Amino acid sequence: MSTHRIALTVNGRAHEADVPARLTLADFLRERLDLTATHLGCEHGVCGACTVLVDGAAIRSCLMFAVQADRTEVTTVESLSAPDAPLSGIPAAFRAEHGLQCGFCTPGIMMSLAALDGATDGGAMTPAAARHDQILDALSGHLCRCTGYRNIVRAADRALGVSVGDADD
Ligand code: FES
Ligand code: FES
Repeated sequence: MSTHRIALTVNGRAHEADVPARLTLADFLRERLDLTATHLGCEHGVCGACTVLVDGAAIRSCLMFAVQADRTEVTTVESLSAPDAPLSGIPAAFRAEHGLQCGFCTPGIMMSLAALDGATDGGAMTPAAARHDQILDALSGHLCRCTGYRNIVRAADRALGVSVGDADD
């Protein structure tokens, strides 16, 4: 099987690898780099569990080939907290609002929120209700098998600075 040489940055670290043309970015991250916090659910672009950032945009890594990530900056959920460090930011908000449940869908949701936060410059100038709508829109592409979306929404609001009570969920 022919391979292709790729060079990319993942969570701030440069990597080079020879990959088959049909290796997905999700499998590259999980199997080659051991970044297994990116989860695989449907593997058909439906559930959102595999969401990572590529050059700041949220993408479904089960639908992207590793070769397509050549010369990009990839960010995975592992970037949101350092081992042995206290939780902060988005993960801390999910813990505080009990938004984790089984946790399978959580990495993808967190990365969509990270993309929204980055794309909207933290949302400092966005009214709370509009910010809440942005968050619901970002969450709309994620399926949670535990089905307890209420705490996820509350956690997302907290993570992105919408005070609980500022917006109805
Ligand atoms: S595993 Fe990629 S969208 Fe479901
Ligand atoms: S928390 Fe279990 S699938 Fe979402």
